[in-house]
Amino acid sequence: MTLQKSAIAALQILACSCVLHIAQAAEDTDTADVAALKAEIAELKSLLPTQAHVMADVDYNFSNLWFAARQANWPLANFYMNETRGRLNWALRLKPVRKLASGQDIELKPMLQGMEQSGLTQIKVAIEKRSSKDFEAGYREAMAQCLACHVAIEKPFLKPHIPTRPASAIIDMQP
Ligand code: HEC
Repeated sequence: MTLQKSAIAALQILACSCVLHIAQAAEDTDTADVAALKAEIAELKSLLPTQAHVMADVDYNFSNLWFAARQANWPLANFYMNETRGRLNWALRLKPVRKLASGQDIELKPMLQGMEQSGLTQIKVAIEKRSSKDFEAGYREAMAQCLACHVAIEKPFLKPHIPTRPASAIIDMQP
C-alpha cells in the first residue's frame, strides 16, 4: 500500500467512526428528549383539575341557569346553559371511563350524549322559545339525568334538587 492509499484508508475509517458517533449522539439526544417530554407531560397532568372539581363548576353554572330563567333573563340563561354543557364535556374528557367497585369499567360518554339529546336540548329549545314552563320541564328532566349518571358511577348520594339560591352572589340575575 502506498502512503497515499493508507492515508485515504485511515481517513475513511475516521469518517466512518465519526458518522457512527454522530448517529449515537443523535440517538442519545432523542432518548433524553423523550424522557424530558415524558416528565413534562406527567407534570402537566398533575396540574389538571379533578373530574369532581369540574363537576363543581357544572353545579355552579347549572344552579345559576335556574335563576336566570326564573327571571326570564334569556340571554343569561343561554350563557349558563352553554357553560353547563361545556363543563360537562370537559369533566368527561378528564376521565371518560371510570372503574366501579366490581372492577368493571363504565363509559360516561353515552350517558352524557343521552342527556344532551333530551334534557339539555329541551332546555335549549325552551330558552329559544322563551318559555318558562318548558324550561322547568327540561330542567327537571336534565336534573334526573345528572342523578342517573351519579347512580351509575355508584354515587347516588350526589342528588341534585331545584337550587334554593344562585351559586353566584355577584351576577345580577335580573334582565
Ligand atoms: C355522565 C355522568 C355525569 C353526569 C351527566 C353528571 N355528573 Fe356530576 N359527577 C359525575 C362524576 C364522575 C363525578 C365525580 C365523582 C368523583 O370523582 O368523586 C360527579 C360529581 C358531581 C358533584 C360533586 C362535586 C364535588 O366534589 O363537590 C356535583 C355537585 C355534580 N356532579 C353535579 C352534577 C350536576 C348538577 C349534573 C347535571 C347538570 C351532573 N353532575 C351531571 C358524573 C356525572
